Amino acid sequence: MNNDAPPADVGLIGLAVMGRNLALNIADHGYQVAAYNRTASVTDEFVSDNPPEVFGDTGGGLVPCSTLEGFIAALKTPRIIIVLVKAGPAVDTVCNALIDAGLSPDDIVIDGGNSLWTDTIRREKDYRGRLIFFGSGVSGGEVGARFGPSLMPGGDENAWTRLKPIWESISAKVDPDTGKPMENASPGKPVSGGEPCTTYIGPNGAGHYVKMVHNGIEYADMQLICEAYQILRTSCGMTPVEIGDVFSTWNEGDLDSYLMEITADILKQGDPTTGKPIVDVILDAAGMKGTGTWTAINALNLAVPAATITEAVFARGMSALKDERVKASKILAGPEGIPGGGSNDQPSGDAGEQFIATVHDALYCAKICAYAQGFQLMSAAQVEYDWKFNFGEIARIWRGGCIIRARFLQKITEAYQRAPNLDNLLLDDYFRARIEAAQSGWRQVVAHAALSGIPTPAFASALAYYDSYRTETLPANLLQAMRDFFGAHTYERVDEERGKVFHLDWSGDRSEAEMS
Ligand code: 6PG
Repeated sequence: MNNDAPPADVGLIGLAVMGRNLALNIADHGYQVAAYNRTASVTDEFVSDNPPEVFGDTGGGLVPCSTLEGFIAALKTPRIIIVLVKAGPAVDTVCNALIDAGLSPDDIVIDGGNSLWTDTIRREKDYRGRLIFFGSGVSGGEVGARFGPSLMPGGDENAWTRLKPIWESISAKVDPDTGKPMENASPGKPVSGGEPCTTYIGPNGAGHYVKMVHNGIEYADMQLICEAYQILRTSCGMTPVEIGDVFSTWNEGDLDSYLMEITADILKQGDPTTGKPIVDVILDAAGMKGTGTWTAINALNLAVPAATITEAVFARGMSALKDERVKASKILAGPEGIPGGGSNDQPSGDAGEQFIATVHDALYCAKICAYAQGFQLMSAAQVEYDWKFNFGEIARIWRGGCIIRARFLQKITEAYQRAPNLDNLLLDDYFRARIEAAQSGWRQVVAHAALSGIPTPAFASALAYYDSYRTETLPANLLQAMRDFFGAHTYERVDEERGKVFHLDWSGDRSEAEMS
């Protein structure tokens, strides 16, 4: 054995919590990981906190590096380097510093942050010939990074061949028979077997694009759960703990998901200071880092009706107007006889149980619509940006590890396996039948919320999406006439070929002419 050979298989730059946990995860799978952080003391502390024993008998470990030159020298060639720094200019700063420190053109630099996919496209081009820039979505938060995230890699296909063994080993695993995530690994004891939650997504920014849509769906999913909570709280007078119990039960059925599980847990949590439910002491002003907004902007740019995802972003914006809402709540009237916008007539007993069941159905149907919108958006994007997505594979790798992991992603996987070019998830037989059976509850809940003055932007927009999608004739005929009236924007006719356009002489003799 050559003792001078560089010891490290993979390099990791950026030792904040995601970077640290991903490095530990990689080492748990038998790799030697060169670790570098801009502040050398962070690296030293991280490596001394995680001596070789942490990785059991896997053979993996950490190699501390205090300079980028030392980091590059510590890596086997051609190099594989993962960068987990704040999305934005910091990614370019690291790439340029690596180039200055002596990186080779066949070294791969993987950006594992929540980068904007157009930046990834640009970087892939800009760095060509100096390094191979590769983007990978990483979902699953801190625990996912440590014990198995869902990974959405996009970039050069040959680079993917080199990354694949690492990505497949560190990703979350799903039981191939049940489609359920396998038990979390523990330090030094990686999960063995199972289907890895990663697949090659496509070239350049495709991986980061799909991660962005994942986050858009995450926003919608979270907002829908919050609306279900709000209705149960306001209309049934249930306590957070009682709602938490209901959500725990739902989590055993077709609403089984990571977000449902953590929500049930949160609702049962008391505030360590006051003893009140923790949700009652958390200010109702939501933050956001931008990925949901990017999804909404992209949907608007492509004119894809991802209304529930977009409403979820707006709902966060509305929540942040806390001071204005406090003022408005004292000025603006809600429905008569319902102070504070809630119902005075709270269902109880059997009626209460029935009402809870309708909220369940509303949540289930609206959730299907949110996912349908996300997939519809990706479907439009692949045409626009010249990608070729495999939707069955995307759903498959979201079954475990990521924030939106849910039992029904198995059903989405199966739907796209049956029909890879499905126009819309709503048209799949399984989902069509499920909505048909549950839509009455959904409609009752949206109507109830409207009559009671309870805001349900995501529930209602999902229902409008569903009803619009299944409506043969929308009033866009009238809209086209208006556009033609004031702006001579032309219209197509129902009795002529698509693409032929006409204008009516609205201000003259009202004759019609075909326009070129
Ligand atoms: C994930 C999450 C992760 C992060 C979001 C939070 O998949 O692991 O989506 O990427 O939690 O960026 O986004 P907001 O701060 O915008 O809610």
